[in-house]
Amino acid sequence: MKILIYGHPILREKSKPVEEINGKLKETIEQMAELMYKVKGLGLAANQVGIPKRFFILDVAQKEGNPELLVFINPEILETQGEVSYEEGCLSIPGYYAKIDRYAHLLVRAYDLKGKSFERELSGLAAIAFQHEYDHLEGILFIDRLSLLKQNLFKRWWKKNKPKELFYNP
Ligand code: NI
Repeated sequence: MKILIYGHPILREKSKPVEEINGKLKETIEQMAELMYKVKGLGLAANQVGIPKRFFILDVAQKEGNPELLVFINPEILETQGEVSYEEGCLSIPGYYAKIDRYAHLLVRAYDLKGKSFERELSGLAAIAFQHEYDHLEGILFIDRLSLLKQNLFKRWWKKNKPKELFYNP
């Protein structure tokens, strides 16, 4: 499994709904989790590993030493509240970090690996990471949410710092 880098066209596609929650999907998610923990990412969307389908994983508790893997399949944002600003990074844009404005609280709905629909309230880092990953499903990257001035600074930075290839194998 490889992580796609900014510039790869799949990262700009709008991902398609998952139609069947089966053993193959479970296996894919296990591989994604392994990869995410290896690189100490907070989240990973399917299209970041080349699968343009609507699912992602999060674990914002791993840093405190008690990992809790959250899986969101065909996620929806039902309600939003408040505002928060946090310095984000992305495994597909290695080395770049910037403050992004997000909603502080969310009510979300998704399917789990058993194919069961659930709702969950998210706050803090979980809410921020959810929105970051949800954006990936829409083909949106966190740099798109910067001001035009900062986007231009990013583009200059990227020219100097971008990896040679459009994917990497951690
Ligand atoms: Ni990302």
